[in-house]
Amino acid sequence: MTDMERRGRATEAFFGRRKGKPLREQQAEKLSTLLPAFSIDLSTAPPEPLKELFPVETDRLRLEIGFGGGEHLIHRAVESPSTGFIGVEPFVNSMQKLLSSIDSAGARNIRVYDEDATQILDWLPDGSIDQIDLLYPDPWTKRRHWKRRFVSKTNLNRFHRVLKPGALFCFASDIDTYVNWTLLKCRDHGGFEWLASNAADWLTPYEGWPSTRYEAKAKREGRSSAYLTFKRV
Ligand SMILES: C[S@@+](CC[C@H](N)C(=O)[O-])C[C@H]1O[C@@H](n2cnc3c(N)ncnc32)[C@H](O)[C@@H]1O
Repeated sequence: MTDMERRGRATEAFFGRRKGKPLREQQAEKLSTLLPAFSIDLSTAPPEPLKELFPVETDRLRLEIGFGGGEHLIHRAVESPSTGFIGVEPFVNSMQKLLSSIDSAGARNIRVYDEDATQILDWLPDGSIDQIDLLYPDPWTKRRHWKRRFVSKTNLNRFHRVLKPGALFCFASDIDTYVNWTLLKCRDHGGFEWLASNAADWLTPYEGWPSTRYEAKAKREGRSSAYLTFKRV
């Protein structure tokens, strides 16, 4: 499949908006220069080894799906310069914001993809990723929309294929029906072990957690969050 065909096909798991406020001229210009420089081209086969995606030496690879404002992604990339990060986000304004942050932080260990994450998941080689972060995914709270949730049997199969054995899948959300949903989907899948060591574990943010824009919104609205960690078995 060519890149044009891939981008043109109806997206499988993206149901949100692609654009918000129109970008200012300078922002649009920056986006059109930086996006091609940092974007992963799925029309060519993944490099072998995959870490050659990055211009710097990396010893771990992490994938963040739906990075939104990019606060978490940029924080982690600066904190762990020897980890390669792949960030996926189809919302143009968010991509522009992240690319500007990459530019100002001088981070060279980030690559991005600006379409539905299922596409890059299908492109990634088997057992190539050390951690997948799915932080505050679109909650689709109405029951009739639950089937749109990113956590599904099909996407867990994708995660299971691309994660190395023993690698992690981290899921944070403030929506209790989505937290339960994810626990059940992972249990039923059978390829993920929930790493909760005590009752309070899932209420404790991940180490070095910088928070995200959606978490801040949840806090303002009085909702607490759950932080689930699963090991790929
Ligand atoms: C509720 S926001 C959370 C953003 C950020 N992670 C945070 O915590 O602030 C969910 C994000 O996931 C993105 N998204 C939704 N479906 C996606 C998909 N199929 N592939 C990649 N990103 C997706 C949306 O564009 C949106 O920015």
